[in-house]
Amino acid sequence: MSQIDLSLLPQTTELTPTRRLYIGGRDLTSISEEFGTPSFIYDEAHLAANFQNAVRIFGGGVAYATKAFLCKAVARLAYECGMSLDVSTGGEYSVSRAAGVPASKLVLHGNNKSRTEVMRAVSEGVQWIVLDSFDDLALVTSVAEHLNAHPKVLVRINPGVEVHTHRFNSTGNRVSKFGFPLWTGDAERVVSMVQRSEWLELEGLHIHVGSLVFSIDTFLAALNSVTDFVRAVDAAVFVVGGGLGVRYLNYDEAPTFDEWSTAILIRCKEAGIRGRVLAEPGRSMVASTAVTIYTVGSVTVKGDHTYVAVDGGMSDNPRPLLYESGYEAFLVHDPLAERDLRVNIVGRHCEQGDTIIRDGLVPSSISIGDVICTPVTGAYGYTMASNYNRMARPPVIWVSDGQARPVVRRETLEDMLACDVD
Ligand code: LLP
Repeated sequence: MSQIDLSLLPQTTELTPTRRLYIGGRDLTSISEEFGTPSFIYDEAHLAANFQNAVRIFGGGVAYATKAFLCKAVARLAYECGMSLDVSTGGEYSVSRAAGVPASKLVLHGNNKSRTEVMRAVSEGVQWIVLDSFDDLALVTSVAEHLNAHPKVLVRINPGVEVHTHRFNSTGNRVSKFGFPLWTGDAERVVSMVQRSEWLELEGLHIHVGSLVFSIDTFLAALNSVTDFVRAVDAAVFVVGGGLGVRYLNYDEAPTFDEWSTAILIRCKEAGIRGRVLAEPGRSMVASTAVTIYTVGSVTVKGDHTYVAVDGGMSDNPRPLLYESGYEAFLVHDPLAERDLRVNIVGRHCEQGDTIIRDGLVPSSISIGDVICTPVTGAYGYTMASNYNRMARPPVIWVSDGQARPVVRRETLEDMLACDVD
């Protein structure tokens, strides 16, 4: 199929008979005129529906993994929809708190937490701290003693299994830096240390085996490798992490969130796990709720290749460069135009790898000044954006009920100098 598959776009997307594309009741052309490009455009209703669905399935305590997309507006929305928030640094913690999320709804992760971060989290009454190593156990214990507090902790187990994903996104295997290895006996040792601790309360166990995983069987295989241990510990909570893959390309297939969570809940029940089963979805909550719009600055043939250069690149979407991830693109002024030209869509950075789409399809009418749109950029785009080549990070625009509002403004050249000391 050479047309864009509109099902990749956010839930409220509508195409009018005159081929204008609306998201959240606003047409993309007018958004690009009002806010400029590049910009991230999020469908607020779609975000809320995803958060509410996660809470419907897992209940309160299910945590949105903020690393996928974080700003005050999304932290607040996830919290208002009933989610807790997974934060892995003091930075993510602070943004969430600044959004008004109480500490009792934050789950603090991190393989190298600082004493300051743990002090703040424990003194403010964080929901849970996820222990990642014996050093972490010592740190959290010492803070608890210092503050005369009894924080609830989860122990992150590393089952030592492979899942099918990019090697950078595989976190539950035998070379992972995260969690306590199950196969060495460390997981068992730390659990009994926490059980005997006079300061820490063992709330439960945690795994996160990888991200962008497309096969439910892979998740179930990973689960099978820990269920005996989880049943034996018999704690109040078992968190299965996040990791569900989403469709980025027309021909991608991915399980729905409902299919993924139902399969996990059933398997945990079959395995005799009595505690509450919770998850930490990131990408599946936000990826397909957003698109990025760019303006084409040049269309040139160089040797055997046609290069379409846009006004963003690896500074707003480093995922193609990091993980060879694919995206689709289409023309905003003619969304369903046949895409009959094979091109490389490249950014404007001084780096050969700065490609948004390698060997992608666009209509051959594409020309300078056109606004193009790449769907499914809601996860790990804005949060992984950088100032490389001193490019300003794009704004984050939320659309809903015919209104568009920036929840993060575009960076300015002044922002670029804000940290320089003369
Ligand atoms: N829980 C923990 C402990 C995690 O480390 C992660 C993601 C999640 C939950 C959420 O996983 P998700 O549902 O989003 O797959 N930058 C990479 C993804 C890195 C994922 C890191 N951890 C990418 O752009 O593909």
